[in-house]
Amino acid sequence: MRRMQVYRLKEAGALTNLSLRQEAQPIIGPDEVLVRIHAVSLNARDLMMVYGPQPYGPKTDIIPTSDGAGEIVACGSSVSDVQPGERVVIPFRPGWIDGPYDPVQTGTDLGGAVDGVLAQYVSIAAKAVVLLPAGISYEQAATLPCAGVTAWSALTRGAVLRPGSNVLILGSGGVSVFALQIAKAMGCTVIATTSSDAKVQTLRSLGADHVVHYATDSSWGEQIRALTGGRGVNRVVEVGGAGSLPKSMAALAPEGEISLIGLLENPMNTISPIPLMSTMGVIRGISVGSRADLVALLAFMNGRFDPIIDRVFGFNEAAKAFAYLATRKHVGKIVIRL
Ligand SMILES: NC(=O)c1ccc[n+]([C@@H]2O[C@H](COP(=O)([O-])OP(=O)(O)OC[C@H]3O[C@@H](n4cnc5c(N)ncnc54)[C@H](OP(=O)(O)O)[C@@H]3O)[C@@H](O)[C@H]2O)c1
Repeated sequence: MRRMQVYRLKEAGALTNLSLRQEAQPIIGPDEVLVRIHAVSLNARDLMMVYGPQPYGPKTDIIPTSDGAGEIVACGSSVSDVQPGERVVIPFRPGWIDGPYDPVQTGTDLGGAVDGVLAQYVSIAAKAVVLLPAGISYEQAATLPCAGVTAWSALTRGAVLRPGSNVLILGSGGVSVFALQIAKAMGCTVIATTSSDAKVQTLRSLGADHVVHYATDSSWGEQIRALTGGRGVNRVVEVGGAGSLPKSMAALAPEGEISLIGLLENPMNTISPIPLMSTMGVIRGISVGSRADLVALLAFMNGRFDPIIDRVFGFNEAAKAFAYLATRKHVGKIVIRL
């Protein structure tokens, strides 16, 4: 029996519950492939799995993290579309291949509903993996499944954004920086917010047309509306949630849309929906996206931009990588290299 190194999270509560173990490599079924993982990226949800409350209910001894890229090293007997040696990225929700969203598919969310990818080897349905173009590294590819696809969904579902549309992104984390890059590549005007003086220049250098400090200006919604000449923004990539939603609504253009993604600020806040009526605005919930969205994102990127990787940690430094994510000092993505 072949062995591998794998991280398991005993239970939620503390980072000390994360430990590196030796166990048997997964045995693949006829429709599965075995992927040797080369890189993993972290998301805010991975911190929720560590510190709780765990978004999929209490889990014990789960392999954490959802986003991995690597090389196929073995294929099940029925697999013909892919082969050993091919470089692949694994979707966040392997059960959602294409078509409309069905909440049942969340039962396949890696590193949350089921075991994730912080392991040397992972077995996965062959039809789920996505082949990587030559120009993208494993580290870059590993940033895409959750943050990249969520940003893509937030900007491509609902009303079509056009060159010159105003897009508001909140903060400088993984989803938001992808949204900044995608929106700029679409020709949109991007307004970014941050709580950090040090990150203002970084966001500008990544293409943000305006940067607003959300922590020191509680009326940032009105400030952003003023920056658009009073018209407002056509899309908000809303990672704050109930805490920031009133300001996002204040910044919204007539018939603009808020892509509701995150829970970073006061998730249980009570908010008034009335401002939405005065703009005839739309709030659209986003739940990552499908394998087809990941394919579409890769095709769209095609040399237009590279993922922003803030820091790369070694496999033995996984706990340090989680701790660094919790500091919120990063811009873009944090990667663990195997
Ligand atoms: N619904 C979905 O499908 C989905 C998918 C992915 C992520 N999410 C959620 O989206 C959120 C972001 O995820 P992520 O992985 O991109 O996080 P992340 O990389 O950890 O981003 C954290 C950054 O968000 C900014 N931030 C923190 N509090 C904020 C607030 N109150 N208002 C505005 N910005 C704030 C901060 O930026 P500054 O330092 O610049 O202030 C912080 O550095 C999380 O709540 C996550 O659970 C949801």
